[in-house]
Amino acid sequence: MSSTITIPRPDDWHLHLRDGVMLRAVVPHSAQDFARAIIMPNLVPPVRTGADAAAYAERIQAAIPDGADFTPLMTLYLTETTDPDDVEAAFAAGVITALKLYPAGATTNSDAGVRNFANAHGVFERMEALGIPLLTHGEVTAPDIDIFDREARFIDDVLDPLRQRFPRLRVVMEHITTRDGADYVASAPEGLMGATITVQHLMLNRNHMLVGGVRPHYYCLPILKRSTHQDALLSAATSGNPRFFLGTDSAPHPTHLKENACGCAGVFSSPNALACLAQTFEDAGALDRFEGFVSRHGADFYGLPVNTSTLQLERVETPQPVPAPIIVGEETVTVFDPIRPIHWRVIR
Ligand code: NCD
Ligand code: ZN
Ligand code: ZN
Repeated sequence: MSSTITIPRPDDWHLHLRDGVMLRAVVPHSAQDFARAIIMPNLVPPVRTGADAAAYAERIQAAIPDGADFTPLMTLYLTETTDPDDVEAAFAAGVITALKLYPAGATTNSDAGVRNFANAHGVFERMEALGIPLLTHGEVTAPDIDIFDREARFIDDVLDPLRQRFPRLRVVMEHITTRDGADYVASAPEGLMGATITVQHLMLNRNHMLVGGVRPHYYCLPILKRSTHQDALLSAATSGNPRFFLGTDSAPHPTHLKENACGCAGVFSSPNALACLAQTFEDAGALDRFEGFVSRHGADFYGLPVNTSTLQLERVETPQPVPAPIIVGEETVTVFDPIRPIHWRVIR
């Protein structure tokens, strides 16, 4: 029996496109399925100013295949020297959609991130006044805090105090990985807080990464947690709660730097994210909630119209193979392997 579902074209509310040859290789894989994406600013050097964001947006535009319907929504990388006036001007001009907070040292290319949050209070104040969302990589970085506890500690030590001080600040907790994250976001006022959830955190837990051998392609940050957390994320994503929406966090790294003695953090899922998610929602008995999670809730949070164009997915009897690695210059990037059989494919 075959069946299809038709949904408004989805958006990806958390995406890494990189730059140069990598940018040109990965953009088509997002543009074929997603209408819009929030573009992460953790380049080297980071996207710090309105001028940086405008220049990066142009490089992305140049990499979008002819005829594709794809709009990059730009973000600035918050540093302790970010100028509130530059933020305001870039937002007013429609150059940026949000700012991204990386605690210094938390993840890939986060060295320029924030160490002393007091130095960013002027920016938070302006963002609160203008309704500019703050997107957080929600992990503390102190070396004595266990990697599996870093998200929960971020909520208690950083996020909650920040929200008490700036109660109207709009925040998206990016790529939540714990029950603590899901519960915190669910308890916040609708419209003031949202959370993105990745495909891999819905489909996998840390056993998939660590039992029977270490699987470096599942290493990402925040790191996969135990299955009770996976269950909580799946409940949140399939609940119909508008605070939760898809951010793939598709984060390409060359295969040889993942399969390495000190492997990079990041999972590349743009090519098969939607097929994998359709399977996940079907397995959870929640296919009717799929459209909200991938096509509606994020647009509503950002105050943007739901896309009028549509995307079709088809259920197929034969499990679909994991897409082959993509070629990037002399290197490859390995695509997310969801382990379970995927009986869905996007009709392209
Ligand atoms: C991301 C990357 O590679 O840029 N990696 C990851 O594991 N998620 C950075 C990030 O989103 O934290
Ligand atoms: Zn992150
Ligand atoms: Zn990311």
